Amino acid sequence: MIGIFDSGLGGLTVVRRVRERLPKSDIVYLADQAHLPYGERTNDELFTLLEANLAWLDSQAPDAIVMGCNTSCAIADAYGWPPTNAEVFDLLDSATIALQHAGARRIGIVATSATVRSGAYGRRIRNAIPESEVWEVPAPLLVPLVEAGNIDGAEPLEAVTEVCTQLPGDLDAVVLACTHYPVLDAHFAAVLGERVLRIDPAIVQAERVAEFLARNHVPPEAGTARYVTNAELSRFHENVARITGEPHPLTETLSAEPLSS
Ligand code: DGL
Repeated sequence: MIGIFDSGLGGLTVVRRVRERLPKSDIVYLADQAHLPYGERTNDELFTLLEANLAWLDSQAPDAIVMGCNTSCAIADAYGWPPTNAEVFDLLDSATIALQHAGARRIGIVATSATVRSGAYGRRIRNAIPESEVWEVPAPLLVPLVEAGNIDGAEPLEAVTEVCTQLPGDLDAVVLACTHYPVLDAHFAAVLGERVLRIDPAIVQAERVAEFLARNHVPPEAGTARYVTNAELSRFHENVARITGEPHPLTETLSAEPLSS
């Protein structure tokens, strides 16, 4: 079984990639919607939430924990990873691998305010690709749009345009460095054009966990998915169905609240 968490719906874009790559793996997904949006929280709060979310996932005895939240990975870059029994797959590493494969040099990062503030993406990429130039831009309007299901039409297009105009021209690649943003990929494609490669780190993330499970001879499972929230269930259920494409997803609320406010 694979454990995945995010602050809300964004990590479902990671679930989608993992299910495409590993249809015979079971998944438990935790959406910490009671504490959304992570991008506007302090570093100390983010680290406390990271510890709590990882501890809850670890208690489900997963074979691997696949991070579905870039902001939490950026905090772990500064504070270190809380200990877990399961191996943890970091989205910043996956993004960096994708950029190396693409041979990108002029790189834009679109992320939450907290991720940009951490500078973690810039550090990780410059370490791995010393000749790279990296521009990091916060996009605080995008997560609320995705959580509200406001993903089509003029408003999300304008919000994406406003973010992309803060990036320099002739970039090789732009990393969608918040897992909510691939839901708005059509808008990024329209604004950035075909010449700029859009990187969704979840694609490499899914590949890395697939290699890990194969290397460790983890046997195939039924391919079930359980989606858990600590907020209101009926809207969560609708959104999970919409984003994953599963008509009747198995959703539930946490019976106990493992996370502090
Ligand atoms: N989807 C998350 C990320 O990848 C965080 C979004 C938020 O809660 O601000 O960073």
